[in-house]
Amino acid sequence: MVRLAAVLGCPISHSLSPRIHNHWISVHGMTGFYSAIDTPPAQLGTTLEALPRLGFVGVNVTLPLKQLALARADVVTENARRIGASNMLTFTGNGIEADNTDTYGFTWNIRQMIPSWRPSTAAVLGAGGAARAIVVALQDAGARQILLCNRTQETAQQLACDIGGAITVVPWQERHDMLAACDTLINTTSLGMMGKEPLSLRLDALPGTAVVNDIVYVPLETELLRGARLRGNPVVDGLGMLLHQAVPAFDRWFCQRPQVDETLRNLVMNA
Ligand code: ATR
Repeated sequence: MVRLAAVLGCPISHSLSPRIHNHWISVHGMTGFYSAIDTPPAQLGTTLEALPRLGFVGVNVTLPLKQLALARADVVTENARRIGASNMLTFTGNGIEADNTDTYGFTWNIRQMIPSWRPSTAAVLGAGGAARAIVVALQDAGARQILLCNRTQETAQQLACDIGGAITVVPWQERHDMLAACDTLINTTSLGMMGKEPLSLRLDALPGTAVVNDIVYVPLETELLRGARLRGNPVVDGLGMLLHQAVPAFDRWFCQRPQVDETLRNLVMNA
């Protein structure tokens, strides 16, 4: 049986997802293919009608389609509903099922690197789409308090209101001092990414045992991670979140649990 899957987005040519899934298809000796389909928002509906008829088992969706994808689904998982966005649509006998695997990707990236990680008080910088999935993931991983700090405070307030639970919105100017209470620090902003402004954050108050994760992965070691590593904090880079979020989709569509290992990391980094 030939299994087909794809990633939809606009633009999509830069996507690393085909490289990840096609590597696993090859590792498992399967017959199948994972492609990238450029899909402007206005064409999402017709594309989702056509693909199951062509034999596709499911699609990942990325910017700018993640919210639209949720609206198009017949069945929505609790996870996708809480985040308010979907990155994974499966074509089933009951129509389109929407899920979100960014939570899984975030959590298992940290767990693979630091198996003992148990968040209690976490600081999250940023309040965009990635932050929504990460806040849900932190709550599911047991975090009792989340300090959410974003340049635009209203966006953070909206996120806290939508997701609920113990989320304290912290003004952007107070990001340095809030670190004193944290065992986990996550940067979900684009600051520190190659070609963007650096993230200005003083780590003096951060406990030395706090886990620091940056979802930026170009460069692999951001200034934040470098600063944290040099003062002895455990650090986790952002590449693993991209790789791990693909695991549940591959498992569901190709019926094999794939591995995230050094070979895959090298393959994707050298893309
Ligand atoms: P994603 O969906 O990948 O999370 P996004 O929705 O564009 O991307 O979010 C980007 C995040 O980076 C936002 O939290 C944004 O803050 P604002 O809500 O204030 O825009 C943050 N960000 C981007 N540029 C920034 C800058 N120069 N200083 C501080 N925060 C910035």
